[in-house]
Amino acid sequence: MKVLIVGSGGREHAIAVSVAKSPKVDKIYCAPGNAGIGQIAECVAIGAMEFDRLVTFAKEKQIDLTIIGMDDPLVGGIVDAFEAEGLRVFGPRKNAAILEGSKAFSKDLMKKYNIPTAAYENFDDAEAALAYLETASFPIVLKADGLALGKGVLICNTLEEAREGVKSIMLDRQFGAAGNRMVIEEFMTGREVSVLSFVDGKTIKTMTSAQDHKRAMDGDKGLNTGGMGTFSPSPFYTEEVDAFCREHIYQATVDAMAAEGRVFKGIIFFGLMLTPKGPKVLEYNARFGDPEAQVVLPRMKNDIIDVMEACIDTRLDETDLQFEDNAAVCVVLASDGYPVKYEKGFEIRGLENFEGKTGYYCFHAGTKLDADGKFVTNGGRVLGITAKGADLKQARENAYEATKWVEFDNKYMRNDIGKAIYEV
Ligand code: AMP
Ligand code: GLY
Repeated sequence: MKVLIVGSGGREHAIAVSVAKSPKVDKIYCAPGNAGIGQIAECVAIGAMEFDRLVTFAKEKQIDLTIIGMDDPLVGGIVDAFEAEGLRVFGPRKNAAILEGSKAFSKDLMKKYNIPTAAYENFDDAEAALAYLETASFPIVLKADGLALGKGVLICNTLEEAREGVKSIMLDRQFGAAGNRMVIEEFMTGREVSVLSFVDGKTIKTMTSAQDHKRAMDGDKGLNTGGMGTFSPSPFYTEEVDAFCREHIYQATVDAMAAEGRVFKGIIFFGLMLTPKGPKVLEYNARFGDPEAQVVLPRMKNDIIDVMEACIDTRLDETDLQFEDNAAVCVVLASDGYPVKYEKGFEIRGLENFEGKTGYYCFHAGTKLDADGKFVTNGGRVLGITAKGADLKQARENAYEATKWVEFDNKYMRNDIGKAIYEV
């Protein structure tokens, strides 16, 4: 079969590597893709938001399955556009992708269906939000309602900071239209865990757990980024936590969406916080995490095509989702200065060191081929170096060893990805 993947980051490279393992797949296309994806797929220069062109391409090439990696096209209704033309596509429709697309929606859903989450209020105007702050306790969390490249969350320690935050989200529109509405919520403490799941509208099958490191610098200091590294599984995601989430969060979310007439098919990514009062939902995403996919998918034993087709055909209950009994760590190699200001266009050397190395992956995020056919840096996050190991300690050692195999000017990484695991 022919598969089209929509997106261009490390997550889409990890999806492409999994898809390429399926014996059912003869040909992979990726729009727009990147230089690494181009090694196993044919990249086509169509943007992820160009729905008409993507649909036309899928029809022309007789694509059997399209997989949407990114949030923006999902929230914008790309699945509806494909389905309207009778094309098979993996991901939630627009009316279900709102689970990620509107934080106010997802908070109201959780409240209505008693799914544990931080206490909150939604606001449509800055006046009311500012008035609410006068009686609030601090720290407090402000969230722009819509998609904001993972940056629309402000943690404010004082009333002054919170007032500034409301102004920047709702009046100065720092995050654009994402700030038409906002959520103000209780500040929670605890460990964060990411749990991704396959959902067919009725049945949900969770994948192995993972943890992201969002801050730019060691010790969780510096600015928030798209993610500087991940490990899987999370030792903090115990059987007890899993049992609680199964009872109160996972199926409850799928059932709530169905009850609202918003049947969800695709990936639900549960951003959880393990608070002293039990696990609570921080956020939902409607797609694989990046860089969570880079540590979860290499450990999955199933044929990803089979699982995705089962979701589309509402027969996920027949699938026995299985993961290897090992661990994986992904260390992001970024361009120094990310996420603020960085240079691009530096040659990447040593990529060939990954060839033939089982259990090691060099997922490309911001890379491209230059006019001479050389791999060069083309973004803030450049590569996601991933390694498996018998346990997290081994996987971590392997991943950091492999970060030495590639070089480029201004290479920057965190040195403590997965270090928290030693505090168990
Ligand atoms: P989100 O995009 O909702 O996952 O938020 C980004 C990050 O902000 C999360 O990964 C948390 O580290 C932090 N965060 C979000 N909501 C809260 C909260 N209610 N309490 C504490 N930290 C939060
Ligand atoms: N790693 C967090 C995300 O993909 O949203």
